[in-house]
Parts: sequence; C-alpha cells; structure tokens
Amino acid sequence: MTPVRKVLVTGSGGLIGGALFRDLGDQFEFTGLDVGTPDNPQVPITVGDLSDMESVRKAFDGVDCVIHLGADSNQNALWESVLPNNLIATRNVFEASKDAGVKRVVYASSNHAVGMHELDDPYSRIRRGDYDALDPDNIPQIDHTVQIRPDGQYGISKAFGEATGAYYAENFGLEVACLRIGTVNSDNRPVAVRQLATWCSHRDLLQLIHRCLEVEPLQFDIFYGVSNNKWRFWDIDHARDVLGYRPEDNGEDYRNSL
Ligand SMILES: NC(=O)c1ccc[n+]([C@@H]2O[C@H](COP(=O)([O-])OP(=O)(O)OC[C@H]3O[C@@H](n4cnc5c(N)ncnc54)[C@H](O)[C@@H]3O)[C@@H](O)[C@H]2O)c1
Repeated sequence: MTPVRKVLVTGSGGLIGGALFRDLGDQFEFTGLDVGTPDNPQVPITVGDLSDMESVRKAFDGVDCVIHLGADSNQNALWESVLPNNLIATRNVFEASKDAGVKRVVYASSNHAVGMHELDDPYSRIRRGDYDALDPDNIPQIDHTVQIRPDGQYGISKAFGEATGAYYAENFGLEVACLRIGTVNSDNRPVAVRQLATWCSHRDLLQLIHRCLEVEPLQFDIFYGVSNNKWRFWDIDHARDVLGYRPEDNGEDYRNSL
C-alpha cells in the first residue's frame, strides 16, 4: 500500500484536532477544516461550515484520508445544532470524500451511540463507583456488535454517522473506521468517578487514530476509544485484534487525584 500522506482533519480547531497535529504532525501531511479561524494555525486550514457542501468541497481534493472530528461535541446538544453540525455535516463529509476519491474516513463516533447500555446493571453501578461484589476482570464488555441504543440527540447523530459510513463503504468502496470515543478531556486524566471507566488518554486515542489510518485491510469497522482502565466496560479486544491497539494508560492510576 502507498503510505498515507495527505490527511484532512475536520473540526481541526478542537481538542482532539490540536492533539493530533502536536503528536502526529511529523508523520502526515495534515490540512484542517473548521468553522472558526484559529489564531495560530499549526497546519493549512480551510475555514468553512461542513453543513454547506459548496463551502467545503474543495478541501477534499487530493486527500488520501479524512479524520472527521467536526461536530457539536456536546452530549446534551440540542437538535437545532445537531441537525446541521452533526447530521448534515457528516453526510457531506462522506459524500465529498466519495466524490474526491478519498480512500478512507476515520469517523469520530461516540459511546453515546450506545449510551443506554450504560444504564443497565452492572454498568450503572460502575459509573457511580459502586463496585460491590464486582470483579473488574469479569465485567461483560459492551462491544461493537451491541444494539444501537443512543442516549440523546447527540447519540442519535453519532449512530446516524456510523450508518452513513456503512452505506458509503458498502456502496462506494470507501474505507470507514468508526471510533466510539469515550472521555477525552483537556486535563488528560479522569476528573469524575464515571471517567475511571470511560477515560481515553490522548496518547491512546492518537494511537487508535494512527492505526485506523494505516491498518490493512479495512472495509467498515467500529472500535471503542478507551484506555485500558481497570473498570472499563467497553471492549478493546476487537481493536487489539484488528488494529493491534496496545493502550498504555489506565484511569485507575488517577483515582487518588479525583
Ligand atoms: N472529547 C471527547 O470526549 C469525545 C468523546 C466522544 C466523541 N467525540 C467526538 O470527537 C470529535 C472531536 O471532539 P473534540 O473533543 O475535539 O471536540 P471539540 O468541540 O473540541 O471540536 C470540534 C470542532 O468541530 C468544529 N465544528 C463544529 N461544527 C462544525 C461545522 N458545521 N463545520 C466545521 N467545523 C465544525 C468546532 O468549531 C470545533 O473546533 C467530535 O465529533 C466529538 O463529538 C469526542
């Protein structure tokens, strides 16, 4: 395979976009796309709104892979914002990628596409720190095959994005990796009890994204973006098997600093 070189990052002005450019900037020829104009752009940026196809289409020309991060990332986002920024925007990203002959899209999905599972036992107890009679090594893991069970408008939009990716993969041969990302924050550590289970460190997420850009073969797949947390309840075996994911971090190491 020709090594991936030209990578467009949508939502490039956000938290994960910034981390990507800092840590993988020397390995890929990145360009960015965001609605806002950054003060000190680390890479060449197109300023445009993903919900307006004509203002962003050109950014996809000559690109090998797209990392689609651009969205209203608030899990409580209202429909009025989710519709343009998550649904229309994500459909436009897949359509523009197909039209431009992009090989692969790495899509930032979310655990919230399946968030209702977390309210079932034993996850509901783990997320509030009630570990009574639970063995962390024997928690049934929520994996990439579970039923879609979104927990809000944002979760619905992420499920829509996964479905859209599946459509473009099966019908147009676009390669699509969906990452159901857990909790990635600017502190880069868990800051609440639930996050002891759901945290994903910056370096573990970047490793996952990097593997999604380079793994062969790939048609359509779904992986959880979570560190190797002691109380994690999302599966990482599938990412280990398919991507060779080797997480380096464990939220438990930060329990005393909560
Ligand atoms: N951080 C997390 O814990 C987490 C968890 C699960 C999923 N995700 C997903 O990962 C992606 C990146 O997350 P983040 O934490 O960097 O978010 P962020 O909010 O920091 O960045 C999102 C970026 O997208 C841009 N954007 C929003 N709407 C746009 C539009 N219509 N056109 C162009 N750009 C637009 C914003 O300006 C922003 O710079 C998001 O899709 C988010 O839903 C994040």
